[in-house]
Amino acid sequence: MKTPKVTARAHTNIALVKYWGKEDEELIIPQNNSLSLTLDHFYTDTTVQFDPDLTADQFTLNGQAQETTKITKFLDIIRQMASSQLFARVESTNHVPTMAGLASSASAYAALALAGSKALGLDLSSKDLSRLARRGSGSACRSIYGGFVEWKKGDSDQTSYAVPLVENLDWDLKMIAIVVNDKQKKIASRAGMQTVVHTSPYYSAWVKRSKEDLSALKEAIKEKDFTQLGKIAEGNAMCMHALNLSATPHFNYFEAESLKAMQLVERLRGQGLECYYTMDAGPNVKVICQGKDLEAIMDLLSQEFSAEQLLVASAGPGARILEIENAER
Ligand code: ADP
Ligand code: DP6
Ligand code: CO
Repeated sequence: MKTPKVTARAHTNIALVKYWGKEDEELIIPQNNSLSLTLDHFYTDTTVQFDPDLTADQFTLNGQAQETTKITKFLDIIRQMASSQLFARVESTNHVPTMAGLASSASAYAALALAGSKALGLDLSSKDLSRLARRGSGSACRSIYGGFVEWKKGDSDQTSYAVPLVENLDWDLKMIAIVVNDKQKKIASRAGMQTVVHTSPYYSAWVKRSKEDLSALKEAIKEKDFTQLGKIAEGNAMCMHALNLSATPHFNYFEAESLKAMQLVERLRGQGLECYYTMDAGPNVKVICQGKDLEAIMDLLSQEFSAEQLLVASAGPGARILEIENAER
């Protein structure tokens, strides 16, 4: 019999202390704890139905049929948990550019973990959902929760999962994504961080630095100290990109427009408008600011970038089920 058809929505998240390197590549156990903010503007909707009539998994993304190797490997984990051998039809829509450094893999695997497990009748706790999402993409384990979230690295499948720090923020943080290029990047996060762990001479310094950044950032969040939060996030991101520059072969995610955006943020700051930048594995720059300064900052960014390039996000919610459609008998 067909299982119910379950649709889940999960939002992306922006890491303020980044995950950049695995200790265990198969189980996706990271080298350091990371801390993120889930974002309302960017998300993935995914519908899953397991069906005895299928002879293989099927996967469409934004209406287009896709290769299924990664999805099948992930669904195998869910099938094993539920002792099922059914194949699934997976239909996903990204309300975020795919593979452009805007964390589509985070919202994607958080939504798939929730929809897929629910379709097979599993009622996983948030912790177990986070552990499951992690197996698809590390950053996805944080997108199970809203607000500020910490991924505790742990040292095993059982102990590596995210925990919510502040689910409902009572301060007005904004993130402006400056979309420099929404095309797919050349070096996927997975490959980039693998090269870095194996070859950067600075990798152990990164692990040490990220621990310091993490505890300082948790303190800043507790104190609602925006200046500290911004400084830590910006510095941590640049350390991550320094690893890429120091790898063999070296690589980077910067484009000319990324540098232009970062310099503009520094200039705004010089003019007394407080804002900070961060960048992930892609050329797009994210500007962190407070709601009170959003309009003034947007006005100035608009002089250099078009309206379509400037996307504003606030803190967003955790993953949730949108719809369960029961199969006809
Ligand atoms: P990003 O910066 O967008 O997170 P990554 O390099 O981390 O880019 O990950 C891209 C991976 O996530 C690719 O394997 C891509 O196929 C997968 N992905 C993106 N969106 C979806 C989706 N909605 N469902 C399943 N997989 C997805
Ligand atoms: C730079 O979670 O996309 O965005 O676990 O290999 O799927 P895989 O990688 P992914 O890496 C995210 C890297 C980052 C930083 C972060 O989100 O913490
Ligand atoms: Co990703």
